[in-house]
Parts: sequence; structure tokens; C-alpha cells
Amino acid sequence: DRYYTDYLRSVIRTVPDWPQKGVMFRDVTTLFQNKKAFRHLIDAFVQRYYDFDIDAVAGVDARGFILGAPIAYELNTSFIPVRKKGKLPFDTVQESYDLEYGSATVELHTDAFKPGDRVLLIDDLIATGGTMIAAANLIQRLGADVIEAAAIIDLPDLGGSQKLKEKGIDIFSICEFE
Ligand code: PRP
Ligand code: HPA
Repeated sequence: DRYYTDYLRSVIRTVPDWPQKGVMFRDVTTLFQNKKAFRHLIDAFVQRYYDFDIDAVAGVDARGFILGAPIAYELNTSFIPVRKKGKLPFDTVQESYDLEYGSATVELHTDAFKPGDRVLLIDDLIATGGTMIAAANLIQRLGADVIEAAAIIDLPDLGGSQKLKEKGIDIFSICEFE
């Protein structure tokens, strides 16, 4: 609810000019290191998805792992890591994308999902949406369904959540920053 949303937003640190001049970096380590805030955060996602009949939570490297694992545990689902290129040892599918700064490639193991699996995709933040769209494409290429893409923070001015909605992917975020 509103009280916790405002509280969770208030414990996120903003670091100006990192990693580049002009970027206002929203740093969730201050939320993760606060035991009350971290519990409320995980509980907020668990409550939202409790009745969604989720089969797997897919967390994006690296901060999506911190969120996704406890949510998957509480929802009694699998946890699937969406990894940066070169980290997964078995057969993979890959998608490349542009970042707010730089570019990158994400990968999934080809046996990560069964066709028709209901997947919750999670990361800490949606900026340009490139990461979430690449991860969603990977999940869909394996025949699974992205039920929702969730994040702690949406930066709506960067257009990522709008782009995801245009691709037919539903979005949930705890809070927004301009
Ligand atoms: C950040 C963030 C998201 C992504 C959001 O990760 O954790 O994954 O960028 O940006 P986008 O919506 O423009 O794609 P980053 O690429 O910095 O990687 P890291 O988690 O390894 O630090
Ligand atoms: N914080 C964390 N990750 C990010 C940000 C940010 O402000 N912008 C793009 N990725």
C-alpha cells in the first residue's frame, strides 16, 4: 500500500553523476541493507503474485537475483537466472540490447523453461527497457509466457515501461523516479 511504497522509495539512495556525468543513479543497496525495508519489499512482491499461478521467477543478472530468489522461495516456484553473456555453461539462447550507457547480451539455458510455463520476470529497475525486453524475448523464444515484468523502480521518462507495454508485456513497479 501507499505507506510502504513511500517508505521503500525513501530508502533508495541517489548517487549523482555515476557511472557517468549526468546520470542520477538509483542505488537499491540501501534498501537491501535495511532489514525492515528488505522484508517489506519482498513481501510486497510475494503478496502481488501469490494468486498468479506462477511456475518460475526469472531474475536478471545481478540485482534481479537478489530479489527473485526470495520471491521464488516464498511462491514455491523455480528460480531461473537470466545471465550476462558467457556465464552459463550449457546450451543457451542469446539476445543483445542497448543500455542507458553501453550495450550488453543476456542468455538463458535452453532447458530453463517448459513451453507454457507462467513466468514472473524481475529486475531492480526499468530504464530504457532494453534489458527487460531482451530477457522477455528469451523467455518467449523458449515457449514460456511472461505473466508480468516487475521492478522496484521504473524511470518512466526513459520510456522503457511504455515500450514493454507496447510489446504486450504487463509492468509492475513499486515506485517511480523522474
Ligand atoms: C541495470 C539495471 C537493469 C538495467 C536497466 O543493470 O539493474 O538490469 O540496467 O536498464 P535498461 O532498462 O535501460 O535496460 P546493469 O546493466 O547496470 O547491470 P548490473 O546489474 O550487472 O550492474
Ligand atoms: N540505477 C540502477 N541501474 C540503472 C540505473 C539506475 O539509476 N539506470 C540504468 N540502470
